[in-house]
Amino acid sequence: MAAVSGAIHARDDSLNVNVPFHLAVIMDGNGRWATERGLPRQAGHRAGVENLRRVIRACTEFGVRILTIYAFSTENWARPGPEVRGLLAILEMVIDRELDDLDANGVQLRHLGRLEGLTPKLQEKVKAAVYRTRNNDRLTLNVAFNYGGRDEILRAMRRIVSDGISAEEIDEVLFNNYLDTAGEPDVDLIVRTAGEMRVSNFLIWQAFYAEYYATPVYWPDFDKDELLKAFQVFQGRDRKYGGLSTKQKPTNE
Ligand code: IPE
Ligand code: IPE
Ligand code: MG
Repeated sequence: MAAVSGAIHARDDSLNVNVPFHLAVIMDGNGRWATERGLPRQAGHRAGVENLRRVIRACTEFGVRILTIYAFSTENWARPGPEVRGLLAILEMVIDRELDDLDANGVQLRHLGRLEGLTPKLQEKVKAAVYRTRNNDRLTLNVAFNYGGRDEILRAMRRIVSDGISAEEIDEVLFNNYLDTAGEPDVDLIVRTAGEMRVSNFLIWQAFYAEYYATPVYWPDFDKDELLKAFQVFQGRDRKYGGLSTKQKPTNE
């Protein structure tokens, strides 16, 4: 359960590309995708779910081990009631329709965020899905729903205090294990679709040295080829972690 630094990569030889161990995606642009087609925003969210199915499959093929998806933020409650209800309905539909397939494909579901705020029925469905898939180990799918990075950190702090942990005992490994992602390594790559260049309260702790990739492509159109492009860019990054480049020879020795 120790926290591991995020510098681990699986290599997919058939693709000749380094694949991030922990990929996180801010699935943005569903609304704009729909509006540009003269469709209601909910149609964009439905198209987003279709695409998610494709991206999950691509991640299992490419050898990504952890995929964290941002599906609903603690700020998204600010949207109009019908859209919020539509997004909750989509989560329920995904669990109802996709769980058998996800389970059969070795996907372990985890939930990041607050369950409170969801209907009791939906809370039970999420808990049951997490429990049913707990021993799967091909891909961990963290679903960030009613998730905020600040909220997660505050919840962790409250539990640390209520567990009576002393100040001296608190270090990064301990703190990591109080987060919703307990036991998982840090994020290697964050992909944000639809062109925005902001973090939007996503994985504030876990992304401390994540590489960031932003593309103008809307989420419903972000297919396997787009994912591969992101991995190629990721492969070219020089992850220095504050040190010196491993790609250049030191000249001052
Ligand atoms: C992302 O698409 C999905 C959620 C935030 C739930 P948006 O709904 O934010 O799409 P845009 O940004 O309005 O295009
Ligand atoms: C981030 O997208 C949240 C999710 C993708 C769930 P938003 O569309 O809510 O983010 P902002 O409002 O552009 O920051
Ligand atoms: Mg958006």
